[in-house]
Amino acid sequence: MTVRIAPSILSADFARIADEIAMCVDGGADLIHIDVMDGRFVPNLTFGSKVIETVRRLTKLPLDVHLMVVEPESYFDEFVGAGADVLTIHQEASPHLHRQLTRIRELGAKAGVALNPATPVEMVLDVIDAIDLLLIMSVNPGFGGQIFIPSSPDKIRRARAMLDTAGSRAALEVDGGIGRDTIAQCWQAGADTFVAGQGVFGTPDPKAEIGVLRGLCSHTV
Ligand code: DX5
Ligand code: ZN
Repeated sequence: MTVRIAPSILSADFARIADEIAMCVDGGADLIHIDVMDGRFVPNLTFGSKVIETVRRLTKLPLDVHLMVVEPESYFDEFVGAGADVLTIHQEASPHLHRQLTRIRELGAKAGVALNPATPVEMVLDVIDAIDLLLIMSVNPGFGGQIFIPSSPDKIRRARAMLDTAGSRAALEVDGGIGRDTIAQCWQAGADTFVAGQGVFGTPDPKAEIGVLRGLCSHTV
């Protein structure tokens, strides 16, 4: 499995966003993670399509857009138009998950599903063929810089087994509290894509940290 590091710009300095994105590119990031929050699904407000468009102009890296919003389908067209490559919606906010994932693919983007810490991995079993990325939340969504939930690697292990059993080639992403102390256990459990906000931008040398995090994932698994 190839390790992919996705810095979350929630923790970036927006007064210097062009420099921050250039730093991610120079540091070898694989994706840019953009957290969209609506103040309803989660108690925080962040970005809309303007920011996606802005980041799109700053890099060719794929934009991994994490929708923490109710009725996510109302944003699909706008966000793909703005340059999103992956749209990840929450199972808890998406009662018609199959239809919603199919629509994301129809628009030409990759379709992701995120699971809150309290949601069992089996909730996506019946839509597994419609998923390009499964995101296991290792914190309750809404804020950067939270503490990693220690039971997350066990959940990642169950998600990896489920994907493998189904013959799915979906990426397995983990988001929340990822940094030097937590990334290796998630990699060993079967994750391949790692979101890091404070774990990159909150360190003394964010550019180098991307490589450090990648290096902590052993290739022997
Ligand atoms: C949390 C967001 C995360 C957040 C992670 O709700 O989905 O992507 O930016 O931040 P850290 O890595 O600081 O926990
Ligand atoms: Zn996120």
